[in-house]
Amino acid sequence: MNKHTLEATAKDMVARGKGILAADESLPTIEKRFTAIDLESTEKTRRDYRDLLFTAPGIEEYISGVILFDETLRQQSLSGKPFPKLLADRGIIPGIKVDMGLTTIPGTQEEKATKGLDGLEKRLEEYRQLGARFAKWRAVISIGNHKPSSLCMKINAHSLARYAAICQDFDLVPIVEPEVLINGDHDLARCETVIEETLRQVFRELARHRVLLEGMILKPSMVTSGIDNPDQADINTVAEATIRCFKRSVPAAVPGIAFLSGGQSSELATAHLNAMNHLGGGPWELSFSFGRALQEKTLLTWQGRDAEREQAQKILLHRAKCNGAARFGTYLEKMEGEL
Ligand code: 13P
Repeated sequence: MNKHTLEATAKDMVARGKGILAADESLPTIEKRFTAIDLESTEKTRRDYRDLLFTAPGIEEYISGVILFDETLRQQSLSGKPFPKLLADRGIIPGIKVDMGLTTIPGTQEEKATKGLDGLEKRLEEYRQLGARFAKWRAVISIGNHKPSSLCMKINAHSLARYAAICQDFDLVPIVEPEVLINGDHDLARCETVIEETLRQVFRELARHRVLLEGMILKPSMVTSGIDNPDQADINTVAEATIRCFKRSVPAAVPGIAFLSGGQSSELATAHLNAMNHLGGGPWELSFSFGRALQEKTLLTWQGRDAEREQAQKILLHRAKCNGAARFGTYLEKMEGEL
């Protein structure tokens, strides 16, 4: 393990004013996104779409890294350059999703464990050679009447820590993603309790597995009301609760927290991140690693049409710029009209 490389890469991933674009949708997920715009998911359409995203002029000012899916890491851009090289040449760090999706934990109410530890070392070796410098593993925790169970928490904390330790052995910075789903009608306080306990368990396991905290990035959910709760906490309440929760459970040695958007609207995810950075007070960079909240409008504009490619890229740049401002707490709602 090269501590210096890990620390330097982790710092670059959460550089001031920038964040990460999550473009690592698995084949079933990208198919779902494409079906919504009436586009067939083929190797070519997936390549064309990722090419649109990664060549968007100006995004390197706001995007520090991109998370890729296995297929994309091996694909070439329209210009003939391999995607990881195209990104690196633009000063954007290429990363790779290394988990293999979810499976149900027997004996639970459909709670999930993440697959992918088997053969991980071999895959990481190859990913490094293909140009990846960081990795991502997503664990999923859901909130319900008897959820999360202690078994689900234990299994996921353990596999996140195993994965992170193995990544660091290959000099890849692990993004540790315990996603607490937004689904449900729970209130903000319940979400805060679950995220706090999840993070405590994750960091206990990370310590047990001797993971270098300075060489990792945490990718958590924000503390919000459940999506089906009619009484939604306001932006400042979300920001305060999220920072309070993280101060209690995330060690100061972690260089950055890069939030997922998890089904929030693009504007709300930006507003929440902005409010947190406006409040400040934490020892870590508060950044973003958004998938849907960065791509949603771009994808809707493009819909597979070459004629809309340029406009779709402008929309991506605008969304990245709004989130870049949110990194400083200087995002204003009126920026939404400045496209
Ligand atoms: P969302 O921001 O759409 O939640 O995606 C982030 C991600 O990478 C989920 O694993």
